[in-house]
Amino acid sequence: CVRLAAWIFLLLLPGLSDGGKLLVVPMDGSHWLSMRQVVEKLTERGHEVVVVIPEVSWQMGMTQAYTVKTYPVSFTLEELDGAFHEYVHSHLKGLPFPQNALALYNSSIAVFNVFFSHCKDLFRNRELMQYLNQSDFDALLTDPISLCGAIVANYFSLPFIFFMRGFPCGLHYTATQCPNPLSYVPRLFTFNSDRMTFFQRVENALVALLELGYCNGFYAEAMKFSSEVLQRDVSLLDLLTSASIWLLRFDYVLEYVRPVMPNMIFVGGINCVQKKPLSKVRSFSPDYTFSNEIGFFQIAHKESSYDLNTAKFRNVSYSNLSKLFLIFWVFLFFNHKTPITHLNNWVT
Ligand SMILES: *[C@@H]1O[C@H](CO)[C@@H](O)[C@H](O)[C@H]1NC(C)=O
Ligand SMILES: *[C@@H]1O[C@H](CO)[C@@H](O)[C@H](O)[C@H]1NC(C)=O
Ligand SMILES: *[C@@H]1O[C@H](CO)[C@@H](O)[C@H](O)[C@H]1NC(C)=O
Ligand SMILES: *[C@@H]1O[C@H](CO)[C@@H](O)[C@H](O)[C@H]1NC(C)=O
Repeated sequence: CVRLAAWIFLLLLPGLSDGGKLLVVPMDGSHWLSMRQVVEKLTERGHEVVVVIPEVSWQMGMTQAYTVKTYPVSFTLEELDGAFHEYVHSHLKGLPFPQNALALYNSSIAVFNVFFSHCKDLFRNRELMQYLNQSDFDALLTDPISLCGAIVANYFSLPFIFFMRGFPCGLHYTATQCPNPLSYVPRLFTFNSDRMTFFQRVENALVALLELGYCNGFYAEAMKFSSEVLQRDVSLLDLLTSASIWLLRFDYVLEYVRPVMPNMIFVGGINCVQKKPLSKVRSFSPDYTFSNEIGFFQIAHKESSYDLNTAKFRNVSYSNLSKLFLIFWVFLFFNHKTPITHLNNWVT
């Protein structure tokens, strides 16, 4: 992360000595846990950082370290939790394929829309918007998934930097016009490698066909809103292509080697930064342990017949995929409690 901070430092400060002014529009959850340290480091180095967050959130709160501006939102924490629980529940219903995928898709749209509604609340908040307009920021740092930061950056015509681990539909490659040949670059969740058989390539092509439709559906509400505020027809790619830099928290345990564009910079693995020792530990597979402090982990534990050790991540069947997503998601969400190196044992 020191390297990452150094990168941002360099990016924001070409030849200046008195610090830049950065607006941060973060995404809640694990996304913020990883970004927070960058924000703190930038503040430490004398940059003026303003973080804009909704009043209701899981992980994001007030701090002494940098300026935080909050805005009231139209949902409660219970509603946010409720949408998330529904999302978790949809993984565990045990529906057959393709109903499981549909339910999953459905609930992820629902949880995203609750998340995204805070963006509408931000734009509704005239006082804060006026403050942002008058603050004369040099750049904006955001997570692409929520799209809100990208909309704000486009709205105020600010150069912006994405900081991310993953993005659905390979949009980070499409938006940057990265070479992405279907014959060699496996699409997400196909679990293929860069050496595909003919039929795997066909599968890869079919998944790639689904991708844009999937993301257009997923982001439909957000696109409608951004067209309203930007007062033009905005496509998903329009919003994303104007990003100046993509800082990628990629780890090659999960990614294949592939070409990237010069504005895509690898800043080191997945990382939610704080590593705390596990307090209560349950063995989930011979190689891996989870904390069982939180209800979700116990759900995962009930599924312990699911053997992560033999059903390895890459060739697990589709019917078991949603459980794996859940476990993986939970892992990412709470991995600030676990040493990241365990992932090496887990995913092969
Ligand atoms: C998706 O959600 C809508 C309501 O938001 C519901 O009517 C529909 O039945 C759901 N479909 C599936 C497959 O769960
Ligand atoms: C920002 O404020 C200026 C005037 O100070 C105004 O002309 C401009 O339209 C505002 N920009 C936005 C995006 O609201
Ligand atoms: C995974 O795939 C490899 C080879 O493709 C196969 O040998 C192995 O049995 C598979 N594992 C499972 C759990 O299906
Ligand atoms: C999928 O899960 C079921 C039980 O939920 C298990 O019996 C089966 O072996 C799993 N299949 C794979 C490929 O992991």
